[in-house]
Amino acid sequence: MKLQFLGHACFLLDDGTHKVLTDPFLTGNVLAAVPADQVEADFIFVTHGHSDHTGDAVSIAQRTGATVCCTVDLAEGVFGPAGVRVQVGNLGGRIPLPFGSAKFFQAIHGSGVPGCLSCGFIFEMGGKKIYHAGDTALMTDMALLADEDIDVALLPIGDVFTMGPADALRAVKMIRPKLTVPMHYDTFPPIAQDPEAFAAAVQAAGFQAQVLRPGESLSI
Ligand code: NI
Ligand code: MN
Repeated sequence: MKLQFLGHACFLLDDGTHKVLTDPFLTGNVLAAVPADQVEADFIFVTHGHSDHTGDAVSIAQRTGATVCCTVDLAEGVFGPAGVRVQVGNLGGRIPLPFGSAKFFQAIHGSGVPGCLSCGFIFEMGGKKIYHAGDTALMTDMALLADEDIDVALLPIGDVFTMGPADALRAVKMIRPKLTVPMHYDTFPPIAQDPEAFAAAVQAAGFQAQVLRPGESLSI
């Protein structure tokens, strides 16, 4: 399994057969690792309707034929009208997919679409469990994830709009993942952070963390 960070909340998960893309905000992100027209995907997961998460999802789906996976409300509000193929679920639900599955997990955050909830995802792919938190505040519900045996947690640390580093560290202590990778920082001036300091704090608490620069990847 390969996990590549493309910038902001955008990751590419690749099991060698299937490519899963998350929150593909590339156009307009000066820190994006690749242009939107060069990304390949089979599935595009979108956590909520803010433009730094929907990003290039429609254009990538139109070019690649990828299926957009999101909540029913986000599909009705954004992706259905755009005419791309969608597969929907909702909080607490797991959808089986050719690469494994994805479970919709709650997030505390606005969604940008009236009546729509924001979410995160727990991917089961290539024998690994990867939690993408989306945009969220710290919440005690994250303690539920300790029972999920998360291999990699992708957590926002940017503050202002989501958890900051201190709350993300508290999240790590609840989730107890084997590895944490920070996201959703430095893209805009208000969310500038020191990811290495966050990683050091996670390690000092007895957990593993890895900072990925946009474009870098990990074998997991
Ligand atoms: Ni947001
Ligand atoms: Mn965001």
